[in-house]
Amino acid sequence: MANSVKRIAVFTSGGDAPGMNAAIRAVVRTCSFHDLHVYGIYHGYDGMIKGDIVRLEKGDVANIIHRGGTILKTARSKDFMTKKGRQSAYETLMAHDIDGVVAIGGNGTFTGAHIFQKEFGVPMVGVPGTIDNDLYGTDYTIGFDTAVNTAVEAVDKIRDTADSHSRLFFVEVMGRHSGFIALNTGIGSGAGGILIPESKSDVNALLEHLKKMAKRKKLFNLVVVAEGNENGSAHDIADIVKKEFTQYEPKVTIIGHLQRGGSPTALDRLIASEMGYHAVDFLMHHKSDIMTGIQNSKIVAVPLQDAIKKSKKPEKSMLKMANILSL
Ligand code: F6P
Repeated sequence: MANSVKRIAVFTSGGDAPGMNAAIRAVVRTCSFHDLHVYGIYHGYDGMIKGDIVRLEKGDVANIIHRGGTILKTARSKDFMTKKGRQSAYETLMAHDIDGVVAIGGNGTFTGAHIFQKEFGVPMVGVPGTIDNDLYGTDYTIGFDTAVNTAVEAVDKIRDTADSHSRLFFVEVMGRHSGFIALNTGIGSGAGGILIPESKSDVNALLEHLKKMAKRKKLFNLVVVAEGNENGSAHDIADIVKKEFTQYEPKVTIIGHLQRGGSPTALDRLIASEMGYHAVDFLMHHKSDIMTGIQNSKIVAVPLQDAIKKSKKPEKSMLKMANILSL
């Protein structure tokens, strides 16, 4: 059966993530291989609304696989949340005869894509690009591995000065509602404590842990705190600890947006390439309203509704393991 899909558009939206460029490259090159026309939409849904769309050729994505950020730029669009905005976006796509869209982003991006395809019937395939790794149905999201590696490198450096001064550092990493970055960074850097939003009793557990360490006179100098931690920010936790343990001189470092930049790791380039390639394949096979996920190293199609509505939480056993290894 001849493929009826002829024109595909691709865009990035929400927080940028290292590896998004590798995904864009994969989409463009796969389309080119199948003789499909491919269009890049700049600035996410905002660009779709304003008609900021250009034809991309395979040469346009040369020399970008190793670059962080996104050549298509990104935005968090308020206008796309309105019916009027989505109507304008639809008109842009129709003006270019687009019959399939690859949306690279996270939860907000996919929520928009799901509503849009329901309202206007435009086939949409999501590619998970967010450093937070908080999407259900995929073991990895693009950018997570790079962000964790960047955070581990930063924490290693903080450890040097923490150790030299025998100081206690609270390092805050990104993760608006999720603790994946904090958990993996904490384990990877051998932190004494890890505080994540998914585990509520953790401040008391941390205080207990600190008491035990103080008794043994064991040097304890690193706690990794997720940005979305419900018991408070790294500053709040440092204040609590300061009150209980006057011998410590707690310091706080917030790594922040440093984690979102930089050259993607090999793993991020690999999964971005696979996901971009398969996203085009799904559209060619008339699959829509899905996200390309990776489960046990295999590409799967995950309903967008599941990806955005169901929750993915770090394994409790990982936290337990981290505690044991830091004793
Ligand atoms: O979604 C990725 C993320 O980096 C979160 O970890 C963080 O809370 C948020 O984006 C920050 O967004 P912005 O750069 O828009 O402030």
